[in-house]
Amino acid sequence: MREYTKEINRRRTFAIISHPDAGKTTLTEKFLLYGGAINLAGSVKGKATARHAVSDWMEIEKQRGISVTSSVLQFEYDGYCINILDTPGHQDFSEDTYRTLMAADSAVMVIDASKGVEAQTRKLFKVCVMRKIPIFTFINKMDRDANDTFDLLDDIEKELGIATCPLNWPIGSGKGFKGVYDREKECVISYSDTEKGTKEGNVTEVSVKDENALRALIGDEPADKLLEEIELLDGASAEFDLEQVRAGNLTPVCFGSALTNFGVEIFLKHFLDMTMPPLPRKADIGIIEPAEAQFSAFVFKIQANMNKAHRDRIAFMRICSGRFDANMEVRHVQGDRVMRLSQPQQIMADERKILSEAYAGDIIGVFDPGIFSIGDTLCTPREKFRYEGIPTFAPEHFARVRQLDTMKRKQFVKGIEQIAQEGAIQIFQEFNTGMEEIIVGVVGVLQFDVLKYRLENEYNVEIRLENLPYEHIRWIANKEEVDISKLTGTSDMKKVKDMKGNPLLLFVNAWSVGMTLDRNKGLVLEEFSKN
Ligand code: G4P
Repeated sequence: MREYTKEINRRRTFAIISHPDAGKTTLTEKFLLYGGAINLAGSVKGKATARHAVSDWMEIEKQRGISVTSSVLQFEYDGYCINILDTPGHQDFSEDTYRTLMAADSAVMVIDASKGVEAQTRKLFKVCVMRKIPIFTFINKMDRDANDTFDLLDDIEKELGIATCPLNWPIGSGKGFKGVYDREKECVISYSDTEKGTKEGNVTEVSVKDENALRALIGDEPADKLLEEIELLDGASAEFDLEQVRAGNLTPVCFGSALTNFGVEIFLKHFLDMTMPPLPRKADIGIIEPAEAQFSAFVFKIQANMNKAHRDRIAFMRICSGRFDANMEVRHVQGDRVMRLSQPQQIMADERKILSEAYAGDIIGVFDPGIFSIGDTLCTPREKFRYEGIPTFAPEHFARVRQLDTMKRKQFVKGIEQIAQEGAIQIFQEFNTGMEEIIVGVVGVLQFDVLKYRLENEYNVEIRLENLPYEHIRWIANKEEVDISKLTGTSDMKKVKDMKGNPLLLFVNAWSVGMTLDRNKGLVLEEFSKN
């Protein structure tokens, strides 16, 4: 056993996914509170301040009009070293949000109990499924009127296609919220609305077998309903199976209220019990085991110009194996050179901390003089393997882009290609023509503004964007078997190719995608590309 195995085994690296406003930020803050990463005084003062301090530092980036990133937070709890990867939402949703999930070993899915599964959760969930990472569900805002509990679970199963296993069960909601029933301990934990920003208050636990005590605690009517639901539940829900959880086929579900800090610590404990230390990763030489191999990492995100004054780029990498030491030499496999990583740092909220060591599971940011690309592998100088690439995710917004000054064609093409190489946008061309017409695809519309801003500021090129009606893009998985020129699609379908020459189809609506598949037997379309 290597001396750093212990450090690696206590690491847990997960992403939090949700639709905006479900309570992701609030839940993250409460996690940090347990870990002591934010002091009590700071968060009691007001959530707005605390929140700014922890998760929303991208606001600053947004004001500058440049690419918005996901932040990484690290904290200690109960002997674990936890890395949380935040996934930005709203209009700052971008490909980076998806890529962040490539760096995580599991995901926490936060759902608003009055809304159920919402659009953004659905999108992010797909990436989790693709990676088969375990997903843990926290159904939030039980202190507000919630949907029927069975309906909520049904919604997850139907919408997302994953079996659910409630670890606890809510008793009422909103004003009538009495607490949760813990299925393992067979007891009821009464709801206590703790002061915002403090740890969980003194909760009362009563066994459901002691019916008198139960009735005294939550009242007759809720007790009757609960006893009935417990019976139903035991018959209806999927049995708990840790292997299925770890394979990403079954999601454990907890109910609670992040705002009033109820059910958060229980969830965190269950989560830590069930998740695994950093997972092995696939490379071209086989599976790399985190604790057995020497240092290796892959780049999952490149953030340009975080500091305008320095015009720097930061490459974010996930350490996949071994131990990283700031003075060590590493091999950048794709660049085929041995180097020292410059200014390795841990990006904590709006703070950057220069670090001297890190372990598999951790995320580090390094200064990038323009040599890294998304998906690149770093390892020890003796080795030369490559991790599996990061897929390209389907953009959902498209625009035709033209430079205003035709004399600046060269800068324009250079700029747009570089920005695409960083992964902020994707560029496409008409299938049969050259670079005359460039179509830009983005996952989040904010990226259009980012593109315009950056081309103007960094490349001195003004552009005009003309929105296109396409919303769906599909890669042709079996391009060798298909004669693209003979494809018969719908009238709105457009054939394009990406920077690597891969053929793609653009569609205005999902119906056209289905229609095209019907009309071209044998055609296989994909929502993301591994090429
Ligand atoms: P997000 O990161 O997923 O976008 O959600 P965030 O935590 O910012 O929460 C969105 C809103 O929902 C916030 O209210 C927050 O206080 C509220 N909220 C989060 N968890 C709970 C909960 O368990 N119960 C209730 N009742 N509300 C919750 P806001 O009014 O938008 O913000 P603020 O004025 O409170 O800061």
